[in-house]
Amino acid sequence: MAIRNQLKLLLTAGSLIMTALAGPMQKAVHDDDDDTPLPLVIWHGLGDNYAAEGLHRVGDLAEAAHPGTLVYYIRMDDNTQRDQSATFFGNLTEQVAKACADIAAHPILASAPAIDALGFSQGGQFLRAYVERCNKPPVRSLVTFGSQHNGIVKFRDCGTTDWVCKAAMALLRGNAWSSYVQSRLVPAQYYRDPEQYDQYLDSSNFLADINNERAVKNDEYKANIEKLENLVLYMFEEDTTVVPKETAWFEEVNGTEITPLRARKMYSEDWLGLRALDRKGGLQFRTAPGDHMQLQEKLLNETFAEFFGPVKLGKKGVSQPAPVVLGDGDL
Ligand SMILES: *[C@@H]1O[C@H](CO)[C@@H](O)[C@H](O)[C@H]1NC(C)=O
Ligand SMILES: *[C@@H]1O[C@H](CO)[C@@H](O)[C@H](O)[C@H]1NC(C)=O
Ligand SMILES: *[C@@H]1O[C@H](CO)[C@@H](O)[C@H](O)[C@H]1NC(C)=O
Repeated sequence: MAIRNQLKLLLTAGSLIMTALAGPMQKAVHDDDDDTPLPLVIWHGLGDNYAAEGLHRVGDLAEAAHPGTLVYYIRMDDNTQRDQSATFFGNLTEQVAKACADIAAHPILASAPAIDALGFSQGGQFLRAYVERCNKPPVRSLVTFGSQHNGIVKFRDCGTTDWVCKAAMALLRGNAWSSYVQSRLVPAQYYRDPEQYDQYLDSSNFLADINNERAVKNDEYKANIEKLENLVLYMFEEDTTVVPKETAWFEEVNGTEITPLRARKMYSEDWLGLRALDRKGGLQFRTAPGDHMQLQEKLLNETFAEFFGPVKLGKKGVSQPAPVVLGDGDL
């Protein structure tokens, strides 16, 4: 209980005080207190920034579901405009490395036994890259909403006054596979057109690597995905922004042909540990109603109750993954 209150205080008081209290907190988190909720890291989507009101409303719901949850919003820059701009511009190898370094240097996150993770849209595949490449501290449950795990075949249209988006998409006048574009335009790094599969394998600066699609597989990526307790993949039923929407479930969509993950070679040969995770009941395919990122509060509440919170809840989740149990003691 005391730890909860302490964490709550830290959360509202801001990061300066957090640093000052880092010593005592580290001890507290190491005590095997089953009631202490694991910290939660959230990675926002394209065009958003880490301080956005809607994002914080979600974080507040997670905190309300499990009081005392420390919520950390991943950012590429403390300046919100530059953070937003980094959702379009940048090299994802460097962006993921920065998230890893920031989390590893955070006084509370770094000393937590594990963390939970919530990724919105492209933030979902970036958090998966955190798990595969770093995972220090390790992620227990990763929940992604409308993420492009198997890439996109089409770039989104920018709003008429969305100048950052327009500037970014202007880069595409060049070749999407060029190293110029691959090192600068974020969505190009998860562009994956099955019709141009060889170029993708040769040139993708991000997705071909984290999906372990190249001939030489990265064993650590696979081992880290297998270590997850849950990978929860939400697909928006009416998603018109992400093409194809089935990418949220790792499905291969080639023209009109849709191959579910369980029928794909990446699953049968288990390039990424997804089959192993599935066999222990940790791979969850879920749908959310509505268009891209039309998040419903009730669904968020249920998801947070099911997958986040104290360590003991997580253990329950693995042995009986299907039903949503809203334990009264912990809410
Ligand atoms: C992205 O950054 C990494 C690390 O700095 C670098 O090795 C890589 O070449 C860059 N990617 C491209 C396509 O330039
Ligand atoms: C997609 O389909 C095309 C033509 O039907 C084929 O040439 C290509 O190899 C397929 N790509 C993948 C990744 O299966
Ligand atoms: C979600 O949970 C919060 C508190 O945890 C509660 O106030 C709110 O009414 C819930 N919303 C829905 C739609 O269930």
